[in-house]
Amino acid sequence: MTAKRIDGKAKAERLAESITEQTAALLDGHGIKPGLAVVIVGEDPASRVYVRNKKRRAEACGFHSLRHSLPADVSQDDVLKLVDELNDDDAIHGILVQLPLPGHLDEQTITQSISPAKDVDGFHFVNIGKLSAGHTADAFVPCTPAGCILMIEDELGPDFSGLNAVVVGRSNIVGKPMAALLLQRHATVTMCHSRTRDLPGVVRNADIVIAAVGRANMIKGDWLKPGAVVIDVGINRVETEIDGKVTAKLTGDVDYDEAIEVAGAVTPVPGGVGPMTITMLMFNTLRSARLAAGLEG
Ligand code: GUN
Repeated sequence: MTAKRIDGKAKAERLAESITEQTAALLDGHGIKPGLAVVIVGEDPASRVYVRNKKRRAEACGFHSLRHSLPADVSQDDVLKLVDELNDDDAIHGILVQLPLPGHLDEQTITQSISPAKDVDGFHFVNIGKLSAGHTADAFVPCTPAGCILMIEDELGPDFSGLNAVVVGRSNIVGKPMAALLLQRHATVTMCHSRTRDLPGVVRNADIVIAAVGRANMIKGDWLKPGAVVIDVGINRVETEIDGKVTAKLTGDVDYDEAIEVAGAVTPVPGGVGPMTITMLMFNTLRSARLAAGLEG
């Protein structure tokens, strides 16, 4: 039996419609328009695409949307000054500094300079601490793991008691917050990384697999427990030759064609986790505007 293909794009669209409706109601009822500021430094092509998509989505949701493009050689002080201004701007409820930053800038100092109340990426230590402590009522949860959880809940319901979840990859953006969210839903969580021994053997125990390592097609069909829910966070650009012409193609960390024959449900790349991540950024920004107005929390 082939697995279900989880349609992240369709789910993200439905969620965005609901966010758009709630945004209109916030403006009608309270005169508040959620504001999102995205800061991009330099010309990294992938980052520019991501930022353009975030801006488009914010506008489609009815937000006040600002993009600050800074030159690649901008000074750390100038970035911190801009973040300070945005921290003090009442029309802005969410601030995102697109990563990676050029090497001369200190990512940690800049990320931590964003007010925790406007940290819609969920990267500030205050938000990380709240998530680790299970105190998510007023924390911002990082967008990619938050979107993954919603897709898993569609398959398994809200309670993962008795289920084994394996997270492959221990990044601060995906792996670590993902593990905290799975634990909060009572899964038995195993974190794997490049130094894990017998990775296929560990993954074979998993009812839920989160692949977030950045290696194209690494997780094979015979690593999977039949019926597992497989969430592929990888976005790898691989070049393939078709009729003598080299084209770039996006591929996940999971060998999709193999996984779909074994798993219960699998997210595709593209069209799985990616669209959900952007929509969760809108969710966090709307939530921030509501929290600032004392309407939530
Ligand atoms: N670069 C890649 N993913 C992300 C993300 O989720 N947030 C930010 N700020 N930068 C990124």
